[in-house]
Amino acid sequence: MMILTNALSQPFSLKTLSLKNRIVMAPMTRNFAPEGIPGEANATYYRRRAEADVGLILSEGTVIDRPASRNMPGIPFFHGEAALAGWKQVIDGVHAAGGRMGPQIWHVGSVKGPGDWEPEASLIESPSGLEAPGKPRGHAMTEEDIADTIAAFARAAADAKRLGFDTFELHGAHGYLIDQFFWSGTNLRTDRYGGASIRERSRFAVEVVKAARQAVGPDFPIILRLSQWKQQEYTARLAETPDAMTDWLLPLVEAGVDILHCSQRRFWEPEFPEVDGADGLNFAGWAKKLTGAATISVGSVGLSSDFLGSFQGEGSATQGLDDLVRRLERQEFDLVAVGRALLSDPQWATKTLRADTAALKDFSPAAMMELV
Ligand SMILES: Cc1cc2nc3c(=O)[nH]c(=O)nc-3n(C[C@H](O)[C@H](O)[C@H](O)COP(=O)(O)O)c2cc1C
Repeated sequence: MMILTNALSQPFSLKTLSLKNRIVMAPMTRNFAPEGIPGEANATYYRRRAEADVGLILSEGTVIDRPASRNMPGIPFFHGEAALAGWKQVIDGVHAAGGRMGPQIWHVGSVKGPGDWEPEASLIESPSGLEAPGKPRGHAMTEEDIADTIAAFARAAADAKRLGFDTFELHGAHGYLIDQFFWSGTNLRTDRYGGASIRERSRFAVEVVKAARQAVGPDFPIILRLSQWKQQEYTARLAETPDAMTDWLLPLVEAGVDILHCSQRRFWEPEFPEVDGADGLNFAGWAKKLTGAATISVGSVGLSSDFLGSFQGEGSATQGLDDLVRRLERQEFDLVAVGRALLSDPQWATKTLRADTAALKDFSPAAMMELV
């Protein structure tokens, strides 16, 4: 147990970001920001995790200034005076408790939310007017829409820095807008934002990263979240080989990303087992090896089953961290993001760092219904 404590409790620093340990709170949409404004309850929720030893908190996805950038009514805005004042309260509370935090900057593209609520249909936008391969939703973005969207991402990046956040994360994963550009199934464009190769389809993301970098200057760390899987198709993959992964990731790092947040459902799954075997590197491991960037791993840390089940009402039992720590020690990745375990138990990091495993609780999906 002492080994576990040592690896996760090491400090980490990159540019202006310095973290007291390797534990990151994964971004989790809570749908608890009425009218898109984070209030006292949201600030308290994040401050509790900062008080209980989380090294870096990533906020729930919070959306840019585009007319249909969110798909649920309780998703917070990251634009407008009232919402930004709410976020200022959040980061001030986290800092007062000794924590570090970045907002996750998001545009859902044309992905439909789980409830009945929808933005006005004519405003929904995506690369090619598709939600999933062969499934129309929203309109194909014009060049002007694209330019305005890139500018809105950059304004959000500048606001994150101005409000005092320590970093920010661009949400480029899970089949939302940026990922809809990456994915050949949803990007059928014939202009410079489309193309047969992942490198061509990365142009939109590269431009977003460059604009964000321009907005925050050279020393402010930028995180980009990516996934092979899409919620529209869990088996989809953008990169089938390490070479394809280099084509995808390296231009993004060269454009200004400092930390790649590599979203997997199960962190222990090797990304290319045909290359380095069953105990091979996971997605974050390969991303670090191929680009030299720092990486965050994520997926069922401390729990026995992946997060998909939680949306179907399934619980998940606590699980030891030996394999995770072994990978951290071999420097496969730099940081570890924890989702559900920290959603249901604000004290998870403190307990884990003290190796007080007996105090850890199983995850119950009931936790998703309240902001504890
Ligand atoms: C309730 C819930 C909301 C989530 N919302 C987001 C989100 O806004 N942005 C994002 O990138 N991932 C989101 N995710 C995925 C998590 O960040 C994380 O990758 C996933 O839960 C796997 O980690 P875990 O197994 O530790 O829970 C969400 C997951 C859950 C359970």
